[in-house]
Amino acid sequence: MQPFTDAEVENAQAVVYAAMPPTPQYAWPLLAQRLGAEVWLKHENHTPVGAFKLRGGLVYMHQLRRRGLGGAGVISATRGNHGQSIALAARREGVPATIVVPLGNSVEKNAAMRALGATLVEHGQDFQQSREHAAALAEQHGLHFVPSFHRDLVLGVATGWIEFFRAVQPDLVFVPIGQGSGIAACAMARAFTGVKTRILGVVSAHATAYLDSFRAGHAVSAPVSTVLADGMACRVPDADSLALILREVDEVIAVSDDEVAHAMRVLFSDTHNVAEGAGAASLAAALQQRDRLQGQAVGLTLCGGNVDRELFAKVLAGAP
Ligand SMILES: Cc1ncc(COP(=O)(O)O)c(C=O)c1O
Repeated sequence: MQPFTDAEVENAQAVVYAAMPPTPQYAWPLLAQRLGAEVWLKHENHTPVGAFKLRGGLVYMHQLRRRGLGGAGVISATRGNHGQSIALAARREGVPATIVVPLGNSVEKNAAMRALGATLVEHGQDFQQSREHAAALAEQHGLHFVPSFHRDLVLGVATGWIEFFRAVQPDLVFVPIGQGSGIAACAMARAFTGVKTRILGVVSAHATAYLDSFRAGHAVSAPVSTVLADGMACRVPDADSLALILREVDEVIAVSDDEVAHAMRVLFSDTHNVAEGAGAASLAAALQQRDRLQGQAVGLTLCGGNVDRELFAKVLAGAP
């Protein structure tokens, strides 16, 4: 992926900040105590869709319309946050959006996408099947298919990491991986701002496609069985994002649903923010790697807070 130019970043910032203010990064003292490190948490749960994805959708849709494309409507597949992002961004551009989700998807994410004006299609047993169906519907109905990974999505998401790296320059950051736009944006923002921060990727131990691919040096598919980290439920890695991850990422770590549940509880008790599974994954990885972090400055991202109430109640009731 070509480095971002100043003009591209300025344009992306103008598009993003027309829809939302920058999000804060806070150094929560209880997290610092718990990890024995300086800990900075980026609050991407505070965007208008409760997740970092919005930034990418806004820039992608803006660029699409500037090129005169997508007027008949856009379609995409999602487990929820990408879909909310595309729905909101499409509405701002006056374009109809159809979003395909797998059966049994998060009830509250589905409701949010409908409330944003999207037509929701529930199809397929997992994200991959939803994606294939979305691609077929795009063909049939002449809709523009919005991919899960694209340079404009990465550019939009990078505005958040540029905010972060201009505010703090941690020794390392933990970044969850789903289809890879978040971690790619982190790497591109690192290059853009010139910070030296190490980037550690985080996958679900129940969806290890990117970990297996990172180790193998080429794309490897893996089954998905995570119950908590739907944002990281990737079965088939994206070739472009994998290439970038292989080049830019120092290490990839797997966290189990138990570790993610614990991190969700910790985020609630230490910061009183609600995290969805993927939103707690970077903290889960830091807690797992605590011994290595002593005295370091650590960046974490609370990249999404969209967890269904029932599931969150179960997680909060869990021990310890
Ligand atoms: C909250 C959250 N975190 C992390 C991810 C993974 O991001 P990416 O697909 O850009 O790798 C997602 C993806 O939807 C998400 O919703």
